[in-house]
Amino acid sequence: MNKLILDVLDGKKVERPPIWLMRQAGRYMPEYMEVRRKVSFLELCKTPELAAKVTHQPIDILGVDAAILFSDILIPVEPMGVKLDFNPAPVISNPVRTQTDADKLKILNPYEDVPFVIDTVKLLVRDLKVPLIGFSGAPFTLACYMVEGGGSKNFINIKKMMHADPKTYNILMEKLTVSTIKYLQSQIDNGCPIVQIFDTWAGILSPCEYTEKVLPFVNILIENLKNAHVIYFAKDSATFYKHISKLKCSGIGVDWKIDLDDADTMLGSGKFVLQGNLDPVSLFADKETIKNMTKIIVEKGKKLKGHIFNLGHGILPETPVENVKYLVDLVKNGC
Ligand code: CP3
Repeated sequence: MNKLILDVLDGKKVERPPIWLMRQAGRYMPEYMEVRRKVSFLELCKTPELAAKVTHQPIDILGVDAAILFSDILIPVEPMGVKLDFNPAPVISNPVRTQTDADKLKILNPYEDVPFVIDTVKLLVRDLKVPLIGFSGAPFTLACYMVEGGGSKNFINIKKMMHADPKTYNILMEKLTVSTIKYLQSQIDNGCPIVQIFDTWAGILSPCEYTEKVLPFVNILIENLKNAHVIYFAKDSATFYKHISKLKCSGIGVDWKIDLDDADTMLGSGKFVLQGNLDPVSLFADKETIKNMTKIIVEKGKKLKGHIFNLGHGILPETPVENVKYLVDLVKNGC
């Protein structure tokens, strides 16, 4: 068993940083597309044998040091009461806009509502040779999709609700927080030693909105999880690091907009293991450029409490697989 990533999260000194990549299983990989040709994305997520198969692909093909459960952050919100489809971006045809909508949502019971996720975790931990990372969306990022009905440019509906109808906003956020605690704990209890919380849309807010309307829910979520390392990844959120530094998690995911050493200073110098932070678009460059950019990150990582190499966001579908393999080999061979 390769436990490098767990050693780093446990605070042990290691020879090289472990590496895994957000969206490491996905459309840039021909082997993933072969599975996807036969089933829709939702069917893939809901069929444990297939979800486990695509989870394994980047471990076998790239040799990364951790697996991430194949699913989507929106899978658990469907049984709470929204109609979900992927096209390939998520679409929710009955967005949550009023208190009546929010009142109708149910709290997730993962064992009854998403048993396929738990079955996928069970299948994976039986034979994976690397730790399995479980994950969820953060309450606010899930709320963005549920209220906007999909992706959004200006997030008008969720911001309007946050300020003009705080009661509905709080009902929604409380239900999402409780559901997410149950969802992540079910992944942990069935074998995930690490969970990552994706707060993709935190960065659309002002610091005041983030600290008053988002961070308290993230804090409750993290404080209620037991027996796993938690990594919190909030994209475009370096301006909130002073506040994020109060969270009680092991790791912070960092995007490419800030250097790892500056991120560490803002997060309380040596308080967290940092994960990141190569720009996914760097993987479209020539090998020399990829090498130079990777070296800088690995060097900065050496001065941290601990470093997990990753991208600053998910791999893009058009990324050349050859460059992804090159990156993984570079980091594994000390650059
Ligand atoms: O990282 C992994 O390999 C594990 C699987 C995973 C997926 N989505 C698979 C996926 C994870 C961890 C996610 C998280 C996720 N999903 C996030 C948070 C991370 C981030 O990207 O910020 C978000 C915001 C979503 C919502 C979502 N799902 C979007 C916006 C899209 C469309 C993206 C696109 O590139 O078109 C999806 C679909 C999705 N999720 C795909 C995959 C492999 C593509 C689906 C397909 O095969 O057609």
